[in-house]
Amino acid sequence: MPVDVVALAYASGLAVERDVPLGPYTSLKIGGPARYFVRTRGPRDLARCLSAAHQHGLPVLLLGGGSNMLIADRGFSGLAIKVESERRHRAEVLSEDAEGVHLRCDAGVLLAGLSRWTASLGWNGLEWACGIPGTAGGAAAGNAGAYGSDIAASLVRALVWTPDGEHMLTASEMAYGYRTSRFKHASDARTAGNAGSAGNVGTTGAILEVELHLVRGDASESLARIAANESARREKQPSERSCGSVFKNPPGDASGRLIDAAGLKGTIAGRMQISTRHGNFFVNRGEGCAADVLALVRLARRRVHEVFGVTLAIEIILAGDWPRGEVDDL
Ligand code: EPU
Repeated sequence: MPVDVVALAYASGLAVERDVPLGPYTSLKIGGPARYFVRTRGPRDLARCLSAAHQHGLPVLLLGGGSNMLIADRGFSGLAIKVESERRHRAEVLSEDAEGVHLRCDAGVLLAGLSRWTASLGWNGLEWACGIPGTAGGAAAGNAGAYGSDIAASLVRALVWTPDGEHMLTASEMAYGYRTSRFKHASDARTAGNAGSAGNVGTTGAILEVELHLVRGDASESLARIAANESARREKQPSERSCGSVFKNPPGDASGRLIDAAGLKGTIAGRMQISTRHGNFFVNRGEGCAADVLALVRLARRRVHEVFGVTLAIEIILAGDWPRGEVDDL
């Protein structure tokens, strides 16, 4: 639907750009243009922007680090919001005692930097997040995790924007599970109900801030754990452009192992390849496109099902305008 850019900029108080390619805002470097695009620098900007989009009837696509997301080649015919924070990787200390610290972070705070900053202060709990190129809000929405932990283990509550106003949700109200939350369900292409256009702000709303509880410990131990996680990541995961794990792990097994054992490592579709290092990472070898990624997703699902009888479930968010019916089966 046509929207007056000036009116949108006026309502959001932010500079609105048009027809901005989204690939550069994702770790895969794939995705067509957004019809409208803004950057927000903190929770107040973000809330104003979400209200403006709602007022104009525009679907919204939130971009944190874009590290667990596949954006359609056609792009997104709504408002893409690049969620940033003036605090970069810092959080606000709400309270601190002998046991630990209670922090408040903007959704746009960078997770890897937050992990190092908190570890260097002897606050334990985010060491797993050191290599994740995402944001606190994105991690809280998808329950990002690694090395035996996840964000749900530290999250106390989250401030959430909805069309009806702002609400504080407790950790249990976030409905956390393995790599999922009520926000992940809302972002799902099949539930967004936007006739082929999948934004990621459903009726559940959008995370503005998260509050975390970290445990007081020893800075050098935390930093050593970060170094160990980094070296395990370097050893096992590819360094090329990817979107992290493509599929969730099925109960009691690993998608990477199944794709590997099905003989698919190194398989190429267009300019995308199933990593030769790790079967659950698909890497962009140049000008890869979303259609190439989907071809590999379908191939891996079909072969793993044929060989092992296991149906893999995708972990990545499929965002943007997909041809009707194109991703309904995923
Ligand atoms: N494996 C193979 N072949 C492969 C890849 C893996 O046989 O090509 C085997 C490994 O040897 C191991 C098992 O599969 O026995 C699991 O592999 P790995 O230790 O690499 O961990 P993962 O289960 O593939 C998970 C998370 C990652 C996280 C790592 C480290 C999921 C879907 N993935 O990977 O998270 O970084 O553990 O903790 O839960 C993400 O979610 O985007 C992500 C990168």
